[in-house]
Amino acid sequence: MIYSKILGTGSYLPPQRVTNADWAKSVETTDAWIFERTGIKSRHFAPQDETAAGMAFKAAQAALAMAGKAAADIGMIIVATGTPDKIFPSTACIVQKKLQAPIGPAFDIQAACSGFIYALSIADQFIKSGQIQTALVIGSEMMSRLIDWSDRGTCVLFGDGAGAVLLGASDKPGIFSTKIVADGKLGDLLTVDNMQLGDHSQHLAHLTTTENLNSELNSLNPYVKMNGRQVFKNAVHRLEALAREVQNESQRRNEPIDWLVPHQANIRIIQAMADKLGLSMEKVICTVETHSNTSSASIPLALDTAIRAGKIKRGQNLLFEAFGGGLTWGSAFLKF
Ligand code: ACO
Repeated sequence: MIYSKILGTGSYLPPQRVTNADWAKSVETTDAWIFERTGIKSRHFAPQDETAAGMAFKAAQAALAMAGKAAADIGMIIVATGTPDKIFPSTACIVQKKLQAPIGPAFDIQAACSGFIYALSIADQFIKSGQIQTALVIGSEMMSRLIDWSDRGTCVLFGDGAGAVLLGASDKPGIFSTKIVADGKLGDLLTVDNMQLGDHSQHLAHLTTTENLNSELNSLNPYVKMNGRQVFKNAVHRLEALAREVQNESQRRNEPIDWLVPHQANIRIIQAMADKLGLSMEKVICTVETHSNTSSASIPLALDTAIRAGKIKRGQNLLFEAFGGGLTWGSAFLKF
């Protein structure tokens, strides 16, 4: 049996750290309000000349270095991002060029905050089936480009950053299982419209009657819009079902969950998940306090932070779980 094994991890956070107190200077909020509801104290924001591909490249270099591998060893690159530098070439292709990695599949995945688990799951299928030997899986997000800087209900929740994992084929576990799920009916609870697709309406208006189209496009909003309460309820509810499944699997395999590495959106969602799994918070990797919600980058960022801090060790079993826009959610259960 072929497993996908994590050979190395890396991450990158832009240097500028913005605290809750900093936010309180520009929107009506307090450190206490943000921290009590979310567990967030600070986040990192990238400068204007930074990009998702640039951050992904730095995280990838660190993952390759930890794994003791060269770019020439990479068989596939998947980047999970909702903030690609360009529509095309994909962020993954830009990273491939920056790394001077060999010709091979490279593409982006867009599954909001669950993107990293989606990307990991896809890479795992390719490795397990013997099609490729090594895959670079990255989550990289410039959430600072998607926030409405005047909406205190959402702007304080997000940050920028990237995390990368290098997977390699192994006859030892490895990723035991992954699960990826979506329910598009609930998509309106958390949205960012795509303004780049709106511009052609002006040209189209010359060609045809476009009243309906124009009115729809005029209402587009390029910022995060969220029904926070409903997202919260759905996250806890969906992740509970997922937790039960992974728990059964862990018992069946006699492989206890040593660490929960959750998507870092909100400490209360993380605590609820740990509670359902019967895990104490000592078994949970939490970086939300200093990273905030970096969407698809949050799990590989948290993972790399915990590995480099010496918390997560070789041979331990990890559970990744995420929930995000789409709505999408998913999990991965693996031995590090
Ligand atoms: N500072 C101070 N007051 C605020 C702020 C702020 N930053 N934001 C909102 N408020 C006010 C609101 O205006 C409201 O005031 P009102 O009662 O006078 O109308 C009050 O606080 C309560 O607002 P709610 O939005 O109802 O606050 P809630 O307790 O639901 O907390 C939060 C909001 C933290 C977003 C919560 O709903 C939540 O955690 N949702 C989970 C979703 C999540 O984590 N999303 C992250 C992205 S999605 C993902 O990654 C999965």
